[in-house]
Amino acid sequence: MTVFVTGGAGFIGSNFIFYMLHKHHDYRIVCIDSLTYAGNLSTLSSVMDDPAFRFARISITDKEGIDKIFEEEHPDTVVNFAAESHVDRSIENPSIFLETNIIGTQILMDACRKYGVKRFHQVSTDEVYGDLPLDRPDLFFTEKTPLKTSSPYSASKASADLLVLAYHRTYGLPVSVSRCSNNYGPYQFPEKLIPLMVINALNGKPLPVYGSGENVRDWLYVEDHCKAVDLIIHNGEAGTVYNVGGHNEMRNIDIVKTIIGILGKDESLIKFVEDRKGHDRRYAIDPAKISTDLGWKPETAFAEGLKKTVQWYLDNQIWWEEIISGEYREYYDKMYAKRLV
Ligand code: NAD
Ligand code: DAU
Repeated sequence: MTVFVTGGAGFIGSNFIFYMLHKHHDYRIVCIDSLTYAGNLSTLSSVMDDPAFRFARISITDKEGIDKIFEEEHPDTVVNFAAESHVDRSIENPSIFLETNIIGTQILMDACRKYGVKRFHQVSTDEVYGDLPLDRPDLFFTEKTPLKTSSPYSASKASADLLVLAYHRTYGLPVSVSRCSNNYGPYQFPEKLIPLMVINALNGKPLPVYGSGENVRDWLYVEDHCKAVDLIIHNGEAGTVYNVGGHNEMRNIDIVKTIIGILGKDESLIKFVEDRKGHDRRYAIDPAKISTDLGWKPETAFAEGLKKTVQWYLDNQIWWEEIISGEYREYYDKMYAKRLV
């Protein structure tokens, strides 16, 4: 069995590659990644020499490149993690989000049709449902919740989801879609909330909390997401959407305070800054379908997962120091300099 993992040099894709190589000893895993700012080859260094693994630097928007690798490898399954994934960047520059997240998905699916791939899995997000009010804790996103996006990022992911389901209905392509809540864990790029706060706290820099810090996210340890995707590609029904989340809602401010506590730092580092434009208030996934149909449940409790994650950033300073000393510095100044004056 050959599995293509696109976006495998990024956060969730790399964790998925490690999980699959460990779990399925007879599988061949091919990572397709164009190595944007978010892709890091050093993340994959431990598997580069594994004969069951191949890395190919190709953009999912490069039709010829994609056709060539399908021709060479004839994959059974394609799992599409490749995307522009950061909401703040999508607000600054939407174009690349449409290009990668929508057109890239189409190019991959056309190749899947041409080469008779048995399953195309689209890794999507709970953000396609928009947000929920803070004062209605009884409301959750189900697979039937209408799509109602807020940011260019989420609009591009929702567009891709619709295209994926259209390819199932129109061409009979065997697709599946998972819509997961916020992931955290090792190898997450420093622009995202948890690594940003850990790294800034370690460096004694201010912790920029958007708005009042009361926005709620539903956090899931990355390995639990990987297990869900593995279950779906093997046992999930074609043409079906599965929500993935562990009922673990937290306010941003509480996450930041917990990180400060784990690191033994001072809360005076917290700085409330100008809010994100169109900032979604609350995400909350109802995972009943994947639990009932496929027997999935999250295994890592948040307190344990967050401690493990913080420890990983403490133990792997070289990994993130290399990132934050490069073009990330320019990004950080652009996004935060004005907010932090
Ligand atoms: P990430 O930004 O860490 O990694 C994205 C990877 O995709 C990088 O390695 C990058 O080089 C690669 N990539 C980007 N454009 C590409 C292109 N044109 N061709 C090939 N590779 C390209 O992202 P992540 O957080 O790991 O998210 C992975 C997927 O999961 C995304 O589709 C995202 O929408 C989805 N998702 C993320 C979360 C989360 O909390 N991070 C939650 C739910 C869903
Ligand atoms: O819900 C799934 C989504 O989770 C994924 O689809 C996205 O790819 C992923 O990036 C993530 O999106 P969020 O926007 O929720 O994640 P982010 O880490 O950017 O922000 C989490 C919350 O923290 C959000 O409410 C904004 C806030 N925040 C973020 C940053 C970077 C801050 O308060 N300060 C910050 O500096």
